[in-house]
Amino acid sequence: MPNLDGKVAIVTGAGRGIGREHALALSRAGARVVVNDLGVSLAGETAGESPAEQVVDEITSAGGEAVADGENVADFEDARRMVEHAVDAFGRLDILVNNAGILRDRMLVNMEEAEWDAVVQVHLKGHFAPTRHAASYWRDRSKAGEEVRARVINTSSPSGVFGNVGQANYGAAKAGIVGFTLIAAQELGRYGVTVNCLAPNARTRMTEAAFGEIPRPNGGFDPADPANNSPVVVALAADEAQDITGQVFFVYGGAVNVLRGWEAGELLASEERWDADELLGALRERFPEGAAPAGMLASMQEAGGQSLRTL
Ligand SMILES: NC(=O)c1ccc[n+]([C@@H]2O[C@H](COP(=O)([O-])OP(=O)(O)OC[C@H]3O[C@@H](n4cnc5c(N)ncnc54)[C@H](O)[C@@H]3O)[C@@H](O)[C@H]2O)c1
Repeated sequence: MPNLDGKVAIVTGAGRGIGREHALALSRAGARVVVNDLGVSLAGETAGESPAEQVVDEITSAGGEAVADGENVADFEDARRMVEHAVDAFGRLDILVNNAGILRDRMLVNMEEAEWDAVVQVHLKGHFAPTRHAASYWRDRSKAGEEVRARVINTSSPSGVFGNVGQANYGAAKAGIVGFTLIAAQELGRYGVTVNCLAPNARTRMTEAAFGEIPRPNGGFDPADPANNSPVVVALAADEAQDITGQVFFVYGGAVNVLRGWEAGELLASEERWDADELLGALRERFPEGAAPAGMLASMQEAGGQSLRTL
């Protein structure tokens, strides 16, 4: 396992599901962890629970070091306090895993403004705000002459990279997180910060709400175990991954697919401005069967190979 001794990590939304597994795995690799979680329901309404404390107890009883943090990732000042919390508690910050999220699925034609706003706020601003404060902390360290080897690991979704029916708010925010990853990777490289992104998959309350219970195998490897996503986080956090940045990692079971996103595709080239009529003809010729997204499940099966054949 990569050695993360001496490093300090924040994992947002780490009280449950995938984030909890990231926090446990980072701790097992030697990192001290700020376990952030607001303790809200799946839709983001206050539920008064304190799952972050439970994860801190798990880490400390296994011999690790962790503190609980209850800030709201979607609030700019809360996010500043969360970064300060890491530095106050452990003297530094090396790894930020942006993972907190909520879900308010609805078909586009029925979606309420509040359903759009809340989901975009928690996911997209909830990635920007912590990254912004962590990045200025790392820039200061770098300008002070330190050799910074810092990490931001974001969380997109198959819904964001492939598109999923009923999730216009969530998928748009998750696609935005990919764009944010690409730009942050390019801006922060000069300070020694890499910025990558997961498109995870797991059996959690989130997938249960959207797709129902994913079947559990009778013993043996469980491809939907949320812990399957965490080795990517630990590997990217290692010093040896200093030159891997701006990548999106689809994960399902034992399949880790480094996705290719928007890249040059079908070129329709003309020496001068296209005439719309001729362009339409060229499009019909290039796409005789039309052109449309494959849908999330088909794309996941292509990306996941063996792990997804049974879905
Ligand atoms: N489960 C999957 O298969 C799957 C697939 C694709 C993407 N994701 C993404 O992975 C991440 C984790 O999802 P999960 O399935 O573990 O969900 P989960 O609901 O089990 O955990 C999310 C946690 O985030 C916390 N949270 C929500 N809003 C917060 C806020 N504003 N500030 C701080 N904490 C907040 C919640 O209290 C919760 O404990 C999410 O970003 C999700 O969109 C999950």
